[in-house]
Amino acid sequence: TALTQVPGGTYDLIVLANRLPVDHAVDENGRPCRRRSPGGLVTALHPIMKRRSGAWIGWHGRPGPAPAPFVHDGIHLHPIALTGDEVDGYYEGQSNGTIWPLYHDAVEQPQFHRVWQDRYRAVNRRFAEAAARVAAPGALVWVHDYHLQLVPGMLRELRPDLRIGFFLHIPFPPVELFCQMPMREEIMRGLLGADLVGFQHPQATRNFRTLAADLLGAKVTDRGIWYDGRDVAADTFPISIDVAEQQRLALDPAVRARAAEIRRELGDPRTIVLAVDRLDYTKGIECRLRAYEELLSERRLDPAQTVLVQVAVPTRQQIDQYQALRERVERAVSRINGEYAGIGRLSVHYVHQSFDRAELAALYLAADVMAVTPLRDGMNLVAKEYVATRTDGTGALVLSEFAGAAAELEEAWQVNPHDIDGLKDGIADAAEADVAEQRRRMDPMRAHLHAHDVNRWATGFMGRLDRLSRRWPRSAAA
Ligand code: ADP
Ligand code: F6P
Repeated sequence: TALTQVPGGTYDLIVLANRLPVDHAVDENGRPCRRRSPGGLVTALHPIMKRRSGAWIGWHGRPGPAPAPFVHDGIHLHPIALTGDEVDGYYEGQSNGTIWPLYHDAVEQPQFHRVWQDRYRAVNRRFAEAAARVAAPGALVWVHDYHLQLVPGMLRELRPDLRIGFFLHIPFPPVELFCQMPMREEIMRGLLGADLVGFQHPQATRNFRTLAADLLGAKVTDRGIWYDGRDVAADTFPISIDVAEQQRLALDPAVRARAAEIRRELGDPRTIVLAVDRLDYTKGIECRLRAYEELLSERRLDPAQTVLVQVAVPTRQQIDQYQALRERVERAVSRINGEYAGIGRLSVHYVHQSFDRAELAALYLAADVMAVTPLRDGMNLVAKEYVATRTDGTGALVLSEFAGAAAELEEAWQVNPHDIDGLKDGIADAAEADVAEQRRRMDPMRAHLHAHDVNRWATGFMGRLDRLSRRWPRSAAA
């Protein structure tokens, strides 16, 4: 069905993302409160939206009616309501049961259901309509991530005057995988509704350009993608972190004292290995635990002198695959502790909780080795946070070559997480490295992050979108 054009509102900058940057939570006294939502997308956009008084349209994280728009931390938040069926079909189903595994190399089997697809369409339309209502004439609208891939096309029909950008935070798959998707043409047309489509990694950009040509017959040149009478640009914009803020945390005396306290609480072992992930099957947690277990068993890591801290942030807990993963991980942790821990001394400290950013920074400071070994990851901000926190250049990052961050953090101990022997070698070498070797690797990575922080990412994307739209004026704005 064609969408009818609507007049619009007052915001010059609008972000659309599945989630608002704050979630409902319960404080220590059992009272409802608001807490920053987990994940890389919110980490990246929060500082930028605080600086520009734009609007953020997103789901408030629960089924049922949406609260009225409100201001939090200087950001104007416009909650979108989802019914229980829509949470099932659009969020848990099509977004996280179909697209998430498919775009992450199908490391878990994607499920395809027509009712999920219908709910995905309906919710994407609701987001597009909400943006069309509040956007000022010619506003810049930045749509984020795999939950909202139909929105750019829908929004262009509703408001041809808008400048529309889309950024995908996760990988974009190769043709063979993408083509399994029943909605494949519809999704490509949705994305091509944007003026600029951004990806984390050059391979994702190449995959998108190939698909535009192969699936839709678009004319793809160095200049852009010519489709349906319009030019669309597709390019790579690797996301980053707020380096200055991370560094401020790292130098905060309270955080440093807490890091020292964490080391003491862990029994002052020779080596602390840290892993911080949402408890997601893409993060390679099981392969990592297997590698660690074998290293202890072979005494390449001394069980009496080594501790692994695995922070597993709760995520998508209603979805079967996530519940099954949690059981497998918790079984593996118990097995390792059963075999190698002593009284008052654990081999794996497993924490299935959310932390605030200061506690996380203290953990980064306390860790000798940071193991970031996803099977596939769009970027992985945890890796960047660890590097930015190590202001004295010590510490050792073990990084999966299948994380987007590997294209930038080349000096890390890069590993293939599917290759358990290679993974073991990476962790063991990192644990053995002396301070000179740590600094030799850390210094260039830190310099890279200083030159490529999240502000550069955001201004790079928005600046490009601005320039493009001046080159290709919109008919309704002209
Ligand atoms: P993803 O987007 O897949 O979750 P990233 O590594 O890119 O993965 O981003 C994770 C973000 O979540 C990081 O900014 C990290 O600091 C934050 N985070 C990680 N662990 C926790 C935790 N226990 N509590 C709150 N936030 C966390
Ligand atoms: O890009 C990864 C991502 O899906 C983000 O959209 C989100 O911030 C994060 O992971 C957390 O996932 P969820 O919103 O499903 O809890």
